[in-house]
Amino acid sequence: ASILVLHGPNLNLLGTREPEIYGSTTLSDINSQLEEMARERGHHLLAMQSNAEYELIERVQEARHEGVNFILLNPAAFTHTSVALRDALAAVAIPFIEVHLSNVHARESFRHHSYFSDLARGVICGLGAGGYEYALLAAMRELEQP
Ligand code: DQA
Repeated sequence: ASILVLHGPNLNLLGTREPEIYGSTTLSDINSQLEEMARERGHHLLAMQSNAEYELIERVQEARHEGVNFILLNPAAFTHTSVALRDALAAVAIPFIEVHLSNVHARESFRHHSYFSDLARGVICGLGAGGYEYALLAAMRELEQP
């Protein structure tokens, strides 16, 4: 199946960005690990990062035409602000798992609300880069269901 990983704003800085909160793994390390895991089980994984809300929205809209079966999404700061990106996910109706590196519930109160969690199949937060791997395992399990 085809799986899309979408990373929101500032996640291009992973590795150097507040490493005490987000860890020292870079975005390209995360993406190559996920690509490898997907390939081993016969799936195809595509990854995209953008700092621009409209690019993420357009990527989600394209995903439907491309036949993407599952999305792993870290909306980053757009988690707490973007009705527009939420609406895009609702519109394409592609199942998705919301991932956050940090435990957003243990941080500032403005990070406690997500515009995505009620639409998501599930939410993983606080487990660092490993969270993407757990999300991918869950997605592949669901996609491999007969
Ligand atoms: C984040 C948490 C968000 O609150 C923050 O704005 C981010 C990253 C995370 O992965 O922990 O940019 O989504």
